[in-house]
Amino acid sequence: MASVYASMRSIGAYAPSRILSNSDLEKMVDTTDEWIVKRTGIKERRIAANDEYTSDMGVKAALQAIERSGLSANDIDLVICATVTPDYFNMPSTACIISDKIGINDVQAFDISAACSGFVYLLTIAKAFIESGMKKNVLIIGAEKFSSIVDYTDRGTCILFGDGAGAAVISATSDKNEAIIDIHASADGAYADFLVTPAPGSVNPASQEMLDNKLNFVQMKGNETFKLAVKTLTKDVIEILKHNNLQASEIPHFIPHQANYRIIKAVGDALNMKEEQVVLTVHKYGNTSAASIPMAINDIYESGRLKTGELMLLDTFGGGLTWASALLPFAGKVK
Ligand code: ACO
Repeated sequence: MASVYASMRSIGAYAPSRILSNSDLEKMVDTTDEWIVKRTGIKERRIAANDEYTSDMGVKAALQAIERSGLSANDIDLVICATVTPDYFNMPSTACIISDKIGINDVQAFDISAACSGFVYLLTIAKAFIESGMKKNVLIIGAEKFSSIVDYTDRGTCILFGDGAGAAVISATSDKNEAIIDIHASADGAYADFLVTPAPGSVNPASQEMLDNKLNFVQMKGNETFKLAVKTLTKDVIEILKHNNLQASEIPHFIPHQANYRIIKAVGDALNMKEEQVVLTVHKYGNTSAASIPMAINDIYESGRLKTGELMLLDTFGGGLTWASALLPFAGKVK
């Protein structure tokens, strides 16, 4: 029997139209455009409309990815969504809602929670389903309405995050040149308190106390997260490159999680990456968590920088703490 490989057949993304600029934030908290740009590289981020939900953004990205794949919605046999800002905290899953809005019914659909590492975690799942022969065309979506869990009076977090979605179709192929080459994903719950939304959940069910103490908003140990992020992201890339006998100079597109320009710069410098190898969107979208990596891939796809067959090195970390890296060619058609 011929071998089956998983390949990235298409990419799509969506960013809400409303822009929240640093000067807008200057009017909301004690901060300055200069501080934000110097410490994070972020100039603006997108914020979803009040009646625009995580699933709505996911649908827009997913429809684009399906259209660019040349397939129809009927060809999709698994839908998985990575999000920490689902439409509903318990049920139904955002993947179920997205599937229904697209008209994909009666296929397996579920969510995963791996914060900013969500999209690369999804790649591991899609690859396993496809290469085991269980599924043929998997729709993966990273979508976040992060603004729904941000406290816009906390200057330590509200400057960082934005909303958006990205999606890809991962398909079976017999062509090894199109295959996802390698993925390393890991986690360490010992650092769970670095990034946490304390409520609602079984530890702190929804209550007046939850609202009074703002437990429904993201809390972050920024400085500790920063240091661990640089260490983990660098180690991840060194390991995956070594495992595949590649040098950093051979990677045309290094696509790190877009959390903070200083983190990206530190990792890029540690690997001697040239500026043109490193994909950057953090200045215009901020940190969109699970949507960050697919939005960045979409950015180089739409600008014409990404060509069919070119290697991408994805590298991410997030709440959990979770981290992951992936090495894959882009197997989709370009415009
Ligand atoms: N404007 C002005 N001053 C600020 C602001 C702000 N927006 N935020 C913090 N400060 C102040 C602090 O109060 C502190 O003041 P003090 O010295 O008087 O106490 C000072 O700036 C320095 O604070 P630090 O936290 O040490 O600043 P740092 O250089 O670490 O930058 C930042 C903070 C930008 C949050 C950085 O730590 C960071 O990016 N960390 C990583 C965060 C991250 O990536 N999180 C997402 C993970 S992914 C996921 O899963 C969601």
